Amino acid sequence: MEKLSNEIKQHRKSDYDISPLILNRWSPRAMTGAEIDERELMAIFEAARWAPSSYNNQPWRFIYAKRNTEHWDRLFNLMVEFNQSWTKNAAVLVVIISKKTFDHNGQPSITHSFDAGAAWENMALEAARRGYVIHGMQGFDYEKAKKALGIPEVYNVEAMAAIGKRGKKSDLPQELQEREIPSQRKPLKEIIMEGKFRA
Ligand SMILES: Cc1cc2nc3c(=O)[nH]c(=O)nc-3n(C[C@H](O)[C@H](O)[C@H](O)COP(=O)(O)O)c2cc1C
Repeated sequence: MEKLSNEIKQHRKSDYDISPLILNRWSPRAMTGAEIDERELMAIFEAARWAPSSYNNQPWRFIYAKRNTEHWDRLFNLMVEFNQSWTKNAAVLVVIISKKTFDHNGQPSITHSFDAGAAWENMALEAARRGYVIHGMQGFDYEKAKKALGIPEVYNVEAMAAIGKRGKKSDLPQELQEREIPSQRKPLKEIIMEGKFRA
């Protein structure tokens, strides 16, 4: 069993005993600009592969671009300037999409996004466990992504993610350095409701 990292110990405390894997994952922005080993990257996608999904339809798909390849700019140019300011040091950019219909009968799936979210979290946990930064993003042009990446209508664009080797906080612009801290969460009582909805 893994241990809580010293960094996380200083910032996060769960009310109940949960796997350190979950608390250790967070979303730093400082990355070194180093490339990622192919096997490490495939292991991160492998984790996504084993997520649960409705009818085991596995609607998630991942379009990725490694730095120093012809594909990098195509994904990099989708992002808003703010995200570009720190993902320029990422090793890989990923666009996460999900298929809106079931393979077995072509009918609409209600849970395709939910399923893709589960795959994303699997991937994030595995990347964090391996010591990589993995950071989800909604700050990009969803329409442009569909066109630039040739994504068919039956797929929904969900989110992007940046993966890379952890860098030093001091490599980030000042305002981002201040935000480079593991975040907190709403209290449990605010997110669970026994029996019926309660505001
Ligand atoms: C789907 C998704 C979209 C996000 N979009 C952005 C983004 O565009 N830019 C950014 O800097 N962070 C983005 N984040 C990071 C969140 O702000 C971060 O996950 C959240 O504050 C919780 O912090 P933690 O991941 O460190 O636990 C996104 C995260 C997710 C899961």
